[in-house]
Amino acid sequence: MSTLGDGTRAVRAGLPVPEQFEPTLPGPVFAAHFHLSGDPVGPYTYGRETNPTWTLLEQAIGELEAPGEEVGTTVFASGMAAITAVLLSQVRSGDAVVLPDDGYQALPLVREQLAAYGVEVRTAPTGGDAQAALLEGAKLLWIESPSNPGLDVCDIRRLVEAAHAADVLVAVDNTLATPIGQRPLELGADFSVASDTKGMTGHGDLLLGHVTCRDPRLTADVRRWRKVVGAIPGPMEAWLAHRSLATLHLRIDRQCTTALALAEALGERAEVTGLRYPGLPTDPSHPVAARQMRRFGSVISFELADRGTAERFLSALRLVDDATSFGGVRSTAERRGRWGGDAVAEGFIRFSVGAEDPEDLLADVEQALDAAVR
Ligand SMILES: Cc1ncc(COP(=O)(O)O)c(C=O)c1O
Repeated sequence: MSTLGDGTRAVRAGLPVPEQFEPTLPGPVFAAHFHLSGDPVGPYTYGRETNPTWTLLEQAIGELEAPGEEVGTTVFASGMAAITAVLLSQVRSGDAVVLPDDGYQALPLVREQLAAYGVEVRTAPTGGDAQAALLEGAKLLWIESPSNPGLDVCDIRRLVEAAHAADVLVAVDNTLATPIGQRPLELGADFSVASDTKGMTGHGDLLLGHVTCRDPRLTADVRRWRKVVGAIPGPMEAWLAHRSLATLHLRIDRQCTTALALAEALGERAEVTGLRYPGLPTDPSHPVAARQMRRFGSVISFELADRGTAERFLSALRLVDDATSFGGVRSTAERRGRWGGDAVAEGFIRFSVGAEDPEDLLADVEQALDAAVR
């Protein structure tokens, strides 16, 4: 599988060996328990521990995360379930953890929880590899690159080298990139983690998360955690996710191409400031992003003058839903400041580029900007 192109790998990822009269991708297996006589030995015993639909999806995600390698993937009910599985299965009271201070807005909740368990939490921004200065004596470094919603990028390989030299484990939240945009394990990370609610599944109709590790001991820790807390995906969600992976390359390629065209068009507009997209050659993150990313993602961020201008822009869009989340085939945008959790200006917009025809989307954004500043 390691020599195949991304598209070929995506359409075949995790498919079972062909069997006469069996479907290419078996349907979801709905089962709380499985027939089990004698000693309770797997592969399938009880539905909180394993499920054949997860097995195929986990195999598929592993093939995308680390083509040609034996890795262990564990799927979860959501991205947050995956994130907390890594952190809470690894750290103990008295340990120190390094988090980004500009990552996903639920990370401060995680931070509070860790602190309540007696874990020291150190934070620094993603940009400029600022987390490197906090590694001494830490147990785990948590990276989110590109970061959400600021779209800053850090040099993952460089941070991993510094962390491993200090005996610190490294986890990368790869949600914005997806595994066909960036492969954290190849960059040296111990855990590649993602919310598959976003670009990975891409239709905005399910929540899911995953953790992939090269080290079987770390996989065992994460799997044990899933069994303990029961943060398991439903078989239907797992199957829909696997089905969606077959179009991952098509969706993400289209979305990335349009995202770059939109970022370039926004760069021409006087009312747009603070424009960020790692794929833009003029973006401060571009040199590092170009070294470690294979595709730059579907999310763009920028600022309009104030809250009123941003709200007028959002309500004038005809082809873009005012909704949170990102990475889906239908474009969405939101005024991120409405949640109150991110350090962003009132006019800050996070824009997720979908799979619409690029000329239609660009025209819609141009007319909405015109309407917003009129
Ligand atoms: C970067 C990032 N990580 C994790 C999450 C959490 O994922 P979920 O909503 O699937 O729990 C999100 C959600 O937006 C996210 O943007």
